[in-house]
Amino acid sequence: MVSPATVQAEETGFVFAAAAFAALGGLLFGYDTGVISGALIFIRTQFGLSTFQQELIVSVVLVGAAVGALSGGRLADVFGRRFMLLVTALIFVIGAIVCAAAPSLSVLVIGRLIVGLGIGLATSTVPIYISEVSPAQTRGWQVSLFQLAITIGILAAYLVDYTFSGSGAWRWMLGLAVIPGAILGLGMIRMPESPRWLAEHGQSDLARQVLARIRGTENIDSEWLEIEKTLAEAAERGRFSDLFGPSIRTALVIGIGLAIFQQVTGINTVIYYAPLIVQSAGIPTASGAILATAGIGLVNVIMTIVAMWLIDHVGRRPLLLVGIAGMILSLGILGFVFRMPTGGAPAWLAVITLMVYVASFAISLGPIFWLLIAEIYPLRVRGIAEGSAAGVNWAFNFLVSITFLTLVEVLGPGLTFWVYALLAIASWLFSYYLVPETKGRTLEEIEHSFRHRHAA
Ligand code: BGC
Repeated sequence: MVSPATVQAEETGFVFAAAAFAALGGLLFGYDTGVISGALIFIRTQFGLSTFQQELIVSVVLVGAAVGALSGGRLADVFGRRFMLLVTALIFVIGAIVCAAAPSLSVLVIGRLIVGLGIGLATSTVPIYISEVSPAQTRGWQVSLFQLAITIGILAAYLVDYTFSGSGAWRWMLGLAVIPGAILGLGMIRMPESPRWLAEHGQSDLARQVLARIRGTENIDSEWLEIEKTLAEAAERGRFSDLFGPSIRTALVIGIGLAIFQQVTGINTVIYYAPLIVQSAGIPTASGAILATAGIGLVNVIMTIVAMWLIDHVGRRPLLLVGIAGMILSLGILGFVFRMPTGGAPAWLAVITLMVYVASFAISLGPIFWLLIAEIYPLRVRGIAEGSAAGVNWAFNFLVSITFLTLVEVLGPGLTFWVYALLAIASWLFSYYLVPETKGRTLEEIEHSFRHRHAA
């Protein structure tokens, strides 16, 4: 057992700063995916867009993100986590400027594609970087800073959209992302490379120096030994084909499975279409719908903080299982609410149930997906494997977002929510049988246990 005093000594401000700066990638993720719904109304008028052109502006970000995540993981293994975070910041800044200054639809689409690449790169690098610099005992909440930043970014986007909605200044809405992008870049210039990546690339002296610096003590021998031992044992080389080697396969199934379930249980139908859903539940005014949406965004932020507080104490599994159970229940109720004839169920019931659903996601599949995919892969293939899970997550995000309105048209909202409820049941079973507990274990211990699992 490590005493709380040791943990406190380990948990230096430096690690916190590294985690917080890197987490800004999450803020941009949330902001850039959330801001478009409010901006679109004005962009549509200015450029006279068809429905397809509007869908293009919204979804091109998700396509860019999938490409960014899939390629970014490999790049983070080759060039380092820190370097890729600097590149990511630059891409975010360029993307925001291109969007804000776009004179035509095609330039805007290119700008959104660039922003998407930045988001994808962030999702393939930020969680890994934070998990590799954090001590085992606090890794859970520190990596979850990424998810917290995502939720704050989404809320900020709702509020910025609301603020500029009177003037219709969509260029400001999209352009403001320059600020967190620049802070991410400037912050990362001063942060060190991940000691684990350095060790893996033969830079042992530097790796030890960084480890001592971020732990705030020269007493790093046991952690260092573990890293060295794990590297000596690992046979994987870090190519795509290595992902299918026997000792990685189980971890890959878990990561890809959670990536799919995080999306197919419907979270982004609420995040992207909340005002529409709330209005169809019977809230008549636009301002009422916006207010309810902001309330949902706030619940998302608050419950993510609750999850961060619990994640290193109660562990990943209990939160995951309780949270997904809450999602199943609330999706079931939403199905009933929307199947009643108009006026049959009070609108507030729909809003409260949506909040329970988002709260349940925020303590489970939200943070825990990003955390686990940064924990369960061996160091040699961590970037490429995490990036693959992130890429699959984006692909399914795209799929759910473009099919939601059609599903509602064909099945009605009630049945649509029940489809997500069924998928949530599947994701509960998947988590129950396959997801391991990683609380309090070092990344090296986790790597060993997967190898052992396979050997057993
Ligand atoms: C998901 C996003 C979602 C967000 C909502 C993230 O973990 O990956 O798709 O929009 O949570 O908080």
